[in-house]
Amino acid sequence: MLNFKNEIGTVLGPLVEMSAGEVESYLEIPPDPEMGEYAFPCFVLSRRMKKAPQEIASSLALQIEPGLLLEKTINSGPYLNFYVRRPALAAGIFSQVLEKEQNYGFLSDGEGQTVLIDYSAPNIAKPFGVGHLRSTVIGNSLSRIYRALGYRVVGINHLGDWGTQFGKLIVAFQRWGEQSLLERDPVHYLFQLYVRFHKEADDNPELDDEARQKFRELEKGNKDALALWERFRTLSLDEFQRIYNFMGISFDSYLGESYYNDMLEKTIKLAQEKGLAKESEGALVADLEPYGLPSCLLQKKDGAALYITRDLTAAIYRYETYRFSKLFYVVGSEQTLHFKQLFKILELLGFPWAKDCVHVPFGLIRFKEGRMSTREGNVIFLEDVLDRSIKLARSIIQEKNPDLENKENASQAVGLGAVIFGDLVNDRIKDVEFDWDSVLDFSGETAPYIQYAHARICSILRRAGANFSGDLKTDLHFFNSSSADESAELRKIGEAFNAPEEEQLIITMSRFSEQIRRAGEELKPSILAHYLVNLARDFNKFYHTCPVLTADEKSKTARLLLIQGVRTVLCNGLKLLGIAAPREM
Ligand code: ARG
Repeated sequence: MLNFKNEIGTVLGPLVEMSAGEVESYLEIPPDPEMGEYAFPCFVLSRRMKKAPQEIASSLALQIEPGLLLEKTINSGPYLNFYVRRPALAAGIFSQVLEKEQNYGFLSDGEGQTVLIDYSAPNIAKPFGVGHLRSTVIGNSLSRIYRALGYRVVGINHLGDWGTQFGKLIVAFQRWGEQSLLERDPVHYLFQLYVRFHKEADDNPELDDEARQKFRELEKGNKDALALWERFRTLSLDEFQRIYNFMGISFDSYLGESYYNDMLEKTIKLAQEKGLAKESEGALVADLEPYGLPSCLLQKKDGAALYITRDLTAAIYRYETYRFSKLFYVVGSEQTLHFKQLFKILELLGFPWAKDCVHVPFGLIRFKEGRMSTREGNVIFLEDVLDRSIKLARSIIQEKNPDLENKENASQAVGLGAVIFGDLVNDRIKDVEFDWDSVLDFSGETAPYIQYAHARICSILRRAGANFSGDLKTDLHFFNSSSADESAELRKIGEAFNAPEEEQLIITMSRFSEQIRRAGEELKPSILAHYLVNLARDFNKFYHTCPVLTADEKSKTARLLLIQGVRTVLCNGLKLLGIAAPREM
């Protein structure tokens, strides 16, 4: 058995008058591997033992003998730190990899809880610009991370499919539009119309009045206006979905802003009943000044609802539908005030779950061309960014590995991976300066660097050939079929490790689950991104000094198992970032 927590419980329990299970429930994972693999916080004992936790820790440390699995126990302040024997640690990883494979490292912290993630949410009839890239890749990664933590995750794409821009588009299309052009390339064409509208409206302000009028007609359910809106929406959505598919992203719900139109009145009523919505010159306003926030418009003079009214309604609907334990909004930091107001109003409306709504903000993304703005027309299209990245990846791969069979597969994985990782590796709150050379640098802190380490391991495993299938179950029997006790067998293999590079690699690997947990708790995929860079780096150092295929038989087997484990962590970790790990590149 390689259950370290259980072992600690069994050893420590009798000394502190606890059951093994109780001890286990208190065990923590120290932030730094230097402090061992597990820690027991002795302050939970101080009342019962009537002693200071430091004192308890130091006396317990002396009483615990090393064992088969535990190498040493050291007190550190109020904590008792447990160090697992390296061979056993390696064996523990191997047996877990064996058991869980593509789920290796995943946890069940969130069992029975539902988390909603509101992300991507592009605006229909405006192009999917790189501005939405960040929300999309961060939200996708957080969804995967929370699933790996055992939560039920509902990914929601709150499409921007309602609002005055539709009045503008309808006017523009009715004046200048051409069916054939719309059909050929809907998203770009609608965008051109949108830009043209703004240009013409500069000289001819009546256009704006006309657009407002059109939007009012739309809100009243005018058939022609609705038919056009529907058409724009469907065509744009198809286009977005094509891009999501290409990126391997899917949503559980596409309920956009328009979905809530019929429920808005109920929200407004509730706000009035609670005395929150006050009339001001015909409009309805929520006075948030007592709470240190600017007041906020809930309904315009003409009766039109606003972005925030739809968000209030959506939040209530979501709680009623899903009973979420958390609702995350992955939206740029320029909307921080909006979410402060939203959450405050929900709280004032008396919803206790308002405290479970969380804004997950992020900074801007900048290309050399400057910040994009939809109105001006100097927009950078996400698709162009992806195409460019894949093209660059293709030429690098062509140069590095001209004989590679499936170049297209690798180019896509590397090109997409570079863009996604180039975003995620940054602390999300900071602005990102996007630089092609650095995101595609095979030796930098990049996706290609990690993917390359992964592909390299796959190639070693392939070359190990018939003697090593890469399937641990088979391989264990291959090197010693006489042993019935798998974990003893694994521990024996673990004893073959003696190089510091091997030890470092084992330690880094052993931290995987903890990094997933931290990335989830802090809502920062960057934690996982950095971890994977470190793991790939540790692997490269290892491979530099420790030959695998040419090592003696005992080391070779151990090292093959070791890199098989590293491969699994790299692959699973990349998946949590939304990045593919090709086997060859
Ligand atoms: N469509 C909005 C925008 O592009 C983002 C929507 C975010 N989600 C939300 N529930 N407000 O700015």
